[in-house]
Amino acid sequence: MIVITGGAGFIGSNFVHHWLSERDEPLLVFDALTYAGNLENLASVASDPRFSFIRGDITDRDAVERMLGQARPRALVHFAAESHVDRSIRGPQAFLKTNVEGTFVLLEAVRSYRAQCEPRGRGTFRFLQVSTDEVYGTLGPSDPPFTETTPFAPNSPYAASKAASDLWARAYAQTYGLPVLISHCSNNYGPYQFPEKLIPLMIHHALENRPLPLYGDGSQIRDWLHVADHCRALVEILERGRVGETYNVGGRNELTNREVVDTVCRLLDRLRPRPRGSHADGIVEVPDRPGHDRRYAINTTKIERELGWMPRETFASGIEKTLAWYLGHPDWVRNVTTGAYREWLDLHYGTDRSERPAPA
Ligand code: NAD
Ligand code: DAU
Repeated sequence: MIVITGGAGFIGSNFVHHWLSERDEPLLVFDALTYAGNLENLASVASDPRFSFIRGDITDRDAVERMLGQARPRALVHFAAESHVDRSIRGPQAFLKTNVEGTFVLLEAVRSYRAQCEPRGRGTFRFLQVSTDEVYGTLGPSDPPFTETTPFAPNSPYAASKAASDLWARAYAQTYGLPVLISHCSNNYGPYQFPEKLIPLMIHHALENRPLPLYGDGSQIRDWLHVADHCRALVEILERGRVGETYNVGGRNELTNREVVDTVCRLLDRLRPRPRGSHADGIVEVPDRPGHDRRYAINTTKIERELGWMPRETFASGIEKTLAWYLGHPDWVRNVTTGAYREWLDLHYGTDRSERPAPA
């Protein structure tokens, strides 16, 4: 089986659904269920015999070792992280703890787990470190896109913590021969994304007739990739990537934030029109994010050539599907935005952090 850390979050839960839709091999999700972890994301697979769940913290060495001993996985896909840049600016310490120390604990635990495996299992084991393009810093308007050899130049505490964890993973590959693979992906969007991130936040605010806050002048550029395409890329990297290598993943969809928000508003004008005017009337320019990266762009030549991966969604097709998903899941949005899912978690787990299966 494989282990997925952070599998109750946005990309992790999409990865779980993708995996179980294509394979017989079981997986185990190991997740602390922070504010970003939501078991509702996994409700539809909770009774699947190939799925199991352990609530646990990657900074807790004993819990991680117990989990590895129990699961005896052939691979670990590491999504668990604090992932929101704005939160990292308000409270960087949690990012140091989870992203750097947590990754260190996982690497150490996997190192000793592997040492106990029989030689064949030791050789085929894989540790996939799911990272971000933000480690490369920011680009000028005419700079070439990031390649795998672009030097790290992180600008936010989040990006610094991811860069540090990537370097720890790299060092474990070089020093201890741990079979590490690292991916650097651009901005994801799609189902189950917590509405603190740009696209779900704009959808949620527009539907509630609340202001749509655009940082600065809205001309910062991001490269957008539908989460399903990211999950397909991760499976390719896990199964066919060269050990010790890093792979950039992106959508070739460079858009300004204003273009993204305008697109969301235009679609909502069609699907959920306001009584008067356009949803875009709600856009307000608010003070910029400190240290805001101006532009990300990704060169995906390596993964295309080596692994034959290409995104299937254009931004136009992916955003239509995403809007349809959010409009079709008002209960999910309501539970997340009212915090009802947290109340349920407290009821289910209380202060007891012991291991229990996910509910049906
Ligand atoms: P997310 O915030 O939606 O989910 C993170 C998950 O990790 C949650 O389920 C949370 O409960 C869990 N978690 C947090 N701290 C934990 C801990 N100490 N122990 C165990 N579990 C813990 O994040 P996401 O957007 O799904 O991102 C997943 C990974 O992908 C992250 O590593 C992120 O850096 C990376 N990434 C994200 C994007 C993006 O656009 N969202 C792009 C590229 C890379
Ligand atoms: O590039 C990959 C990264 O993408 C991931 O590593 C991160 O985990 C993920 O959160 C994301 O980071 P960003 O900071 O790019 O995403 P976010 O959705 O927070 O913001 C996208 C852009 O929109 C960014 O330029 C800031 C801007 N923004 C964001 C919010 C929440 C706004 O203008 N208004 C907003 O309210």
